[in-house]
Amino acid sequence: MEGENGHSASFISPMSLKDTGMSHIPTCYIVPQSQRSTPNLNLHLTNTLPIVDLASLHHKSQRPKVIDEIRAACRKMGFFQVINHGISPLVMEGALDSASNFFNLPIHEKMQLVSDDVTEPVRYGTSLNYVREEIHCWRDFLKHYSHPLSKWIHSWPSNPPQYKEKMGAYAEAVQNLAIELMEAIFESLGLKPAYLKEEMEESMQVMAVNCYPACPEPELTLGMPPHSDYGCLTILLQNCQALEVMDKEEKWMPVPAINGALLVHVGDHLEVTSNGRYKSVIRRAVVNSEKRRLSIASLHSLAIYKKVGPAAELVDKQHPTAYTESSFGDFLKFLSANDVMKGRRYIETLKMVQNKNNGRC
Ligand code: OGA
Repeated sequence: MEGENGHSASFISPMSLKDTGMSHIPTCYIVPQSQRSTPNLNLHLTNTLPIVDLASLHHKSQRPKVIDEIRAACRKMGFFQVINHGISPLVMEGALDSASNFFNLPIHEKMQLVSDDVTEPVRYGTSLNYVREEIHCWRDFLKHYSHPLSKWIHSWPSNPPQYKEKMGAYAEAVQNLAIELMEAIFESLGLKPAYLKEEMEESMQVMAVNCYPACPEPELTLGMPPHSDYGCLTILLQNCQALEVMDKEEKWMPVPAINGALLVHVGDHLEVTSNGRYKSVIRRAVVNSEKRRLSIASLHSLAIYKKVGPAAELVDKQHPTAYTESSFGDFLKFLSANDVMKGRRYIETLKMVQNKNNGRC
C-alpha cells in the first residue's frame, strides 16, 4: 500500500486482524517468554509509585514542598502521576473521543496517512518500526507534530470532523502543562526555573495517539515493548490501565489507573541535561482481551536539530560530563536504523566512558 505522501509502506494492522475474529495471534506478535508480562506480579508495590498533587505548585509558600516531591519522584523512578494538573476532564475526554473516532474510520482512509518515514509530521502506522523489527507490537498509532499548533494543525486529519478542534484543545493544554513541569523539574535540579525557557518555547511536541485493540491472547504479546523516550518529558493520558514501569531493581511495576490523572515520564534528554542525576524511565504497555485501550502520549523535547548536553551548572569534579550531545533528529536516525525491540537503548549510545584517572573521557 502506498500512502498519499508517496512513501511506500504496507502493514497489517492489529485492528484489522481483530476484526477477522481470529482466536490466536500470528506468530510475528509473540514475544519471547522472558519478555512477557506476568499479570499481578508486584501488584502489592504499585501503591508506592509517586503521585504529585500540583494544586499548590503556584502557591509561593507551598511550591517548595511540591518541588521536593517532584525531585524525589524523578530520583526514585523517573516517573510520577499528576493530579490537579489543571486540564479539564472535558478536554481530556474530547481528546480520547476524537482518538476513538479516528481509529473507527475505514482502514483505506487511515492508510492515506501511512508512511515508514519517521520524520513525517503526520503518520499513521502500527507497532514501532514495522519495516525493521522481527516481532510486532499489538498497537496502531497516529502520530502528529503538535507545537506550535498553528503550524501543524492544518495537516492533521480532517476526518473525523471534530478531530482538529478536540485534539487541538488537549494538545495546547498539555503543552502548557509540560512547560510548567519542566520549570519545576529544573528548579528541583537547582537550575533556574527559566533554564532553557526560550528553547522550550520553540520546542517540539509530538503526540502519539495509540490504539490497542482487544487481543485474543494478551499474555503472549505486548502493546509497546520496553522503551524510554528521547525527549525531556512524556505526558500520557489513557482510558484504562495497562502501563508498567521498571524500577531501579529492574522490577516491572503496573501503574494503577487514577481517575483524571496524567502519567509523567522522564525522557533520555532530561537524563542528559541533569548529567545523570535523573534517569529516564523504561516503560511498556500490556494488552487485554476485553476492551480496546486508547492512550495519548505527548512527547516534549527541544527543537529537532538542537543539540543537548549536560547543563554546565551540573558538571563539576564530582560529576564530570557523562553524556555526549545529541538532538531529537539524531535520535530519529537511530530509530529508523535499528530494531529497538532487540537492540541497545539510544541513551546507552550517549554515555561517555569514564577515564579511571580523572573521571573524564
Ligand atoms: C508511547 C507509549 C504507552 C501506552 O506511546 O510511547 O509508551 O501506555 N505508550 O500507551
